[in-house]
Amino acid sequence: MKEKVLKTLNEQMNAEYYSAYLYLGMSAYADRAGFKGTAGWLLRQAHEEREHAEKIFKFILERGDAPALADIKATPPEYKSLEDVFKKVAAHERHVTDLIDAAASVALDERDHATYSFLRWFVDEQVEEVSTADDILGKFTAAGSNPGFLFNLDAVLGQRQ
Ligand SMILES: [Fe+2]
Ligand SMILES: [Fe+2]
Repeated sequence: MKEKVLKTLNEQMNAEYYSAYLYLGMSAYADRAGFKGTAGWLLRQAHEEREHAEKIFKFILERGDAPALADIKATPPEYKSLEDVFKKVAAHERHVTDLIDAAASVALDERDHATYSFLRWFVDEQVEEVSTADDILGKFTAAGSNPGFLFNLDAVLGQRQ
């Protein structure tokens, strides 16, 4: 692949590993705060992000290039609340959407249509990711100070397979 496209794909792979790492840290926070259902949901989310990274890893190899496994940045050590966690999930998914859009633009600029076509799966995936995060975050607003809300939310999130 052209150098610029390969660099962009390697950066996106690293960003997906960082997402996995970020959600793993959030899962630990939720677990320790007693929200086991939410911890399970976030762990599942972390696994999905690792799968995203591996999709890019395999694509780079398929194109005859070398994946660059760079350092993964450390994640925040603490969160204030579950709402704080989901605010950060939603903000992070918006950031990743910007990265994917920029990567798709690089592929088009470099006339690498195979990479552009590959990245379209991620474009669609991000719509779902942002929508899911916003839906969960919206429940906090709707619940106000309802005392049972966090326990109900934890039970619902715990049902994720
Ligand atoms: Fe992802
Ligand atoms: Fe994501």
